[in-house]
Amino acid sequence: MPEIAYVNGCFSPIGEAVVSVEDRGFQYADGVYEVLATYGGEPHGMEEHLLRLERSLGELRIECDIREYGLEGIIREAIARAGFKESLIYVQITRGVAPRRHEFPLASSGVSPTVVLTVKELARPQASWYETGVKVVTSPDLRWKRCDIKTVALLPNVLAKQQAAEAGAFEALLVDETGRVTEGSSTSSFRVLDGEIWTTPLGGHILSSITREALLRAARDLGIAVWEEFSLLEDYLQADEVFLAGTTAESIPVVQIDDTAIGSSGAPGPVTMRLRAAFLEMLS
Ligand code: PDD
Repeated sequence: MPEIAYVNGCFSPIGEAVVSVEDRGFQYADGVYEVLATYGGEPHGMEEHLLRLERSLGELRIECDIREYGLEGIIREAIARAGFKESLIYVQITRGVAPRRHEFPLASSGVSPTVVLTVKELARPQASWYETGVKVVTSPDLRWKRCDIKTVALLPNVLAKQQAAEAGAFEALLVDETGRVTEGSSTSSFRVLDGEIWTTPLGGHILSSITREALLRAARDLGIAVWEEFSLLEDYLQADEVFLAGTTAESIPVVQIDDTAIGSSGAPGPVTMRLRAAFLEMLS
């Protein structure tokens, strides 16, 4: 069965899967999500994704015990049913279906979370992105102060990504009101200076990216110094190298920010490519 969905216990072809118009995910973006990719058929970082999902649910007080629910088994069953060589898995859990009132439904109303999952074929990033690097644009970071929660409320991210798409750029680099780069609209961001890596510290400004964690671990293993500190946009513009990371992007070199070329070579830099090699090794 290609491109399948799972909604509250039922598997179906993706086009047949539906949720209620009164789902709070639809009406209030009152829900959280995860995106996982398989390598060699195995979901990468499954436990990290489950832990982040549990944390997101907890922060929003959505009562859903994903261990008791058997979410990991359901993800694995969905991957097997879809039968792709490599899969992209989307998991979304909302507070559930209830008459539209801003406050949470009463516990006594028996409202239960909506659990949705889709499985599609994974498209790995294009090889050309690593050979030549990509261009990004900058965009104001209009998001709220709890970007650490992976909620489906992604409108600022969507608008920034659309700005990038219209400019023919790969990604929008988000810049806060004080001139600091936070991250990409759907990626973490990093800059390299004199062989050392800087990236935004964890906290409400960014998502605690699983790929970011893996790359920082790989960097430390390679003896590369890592600074989890804020950087200004001008630091990014003057960097030797800039790169992005995420589940679908993996790790991607950036060679241009708006009209500014990054580094002196105009090509992906050595630290970026060393880390990419280490990351690919981790996936294999
Ligand atoms: N996005 N930052 C933001 C804002 C993101 O949305 C994502 C992931 C990341 C990278 O996180 P991770 O390494 O855990 O995938 C960073 C997913 C892929 C998405 O929304 O499609």
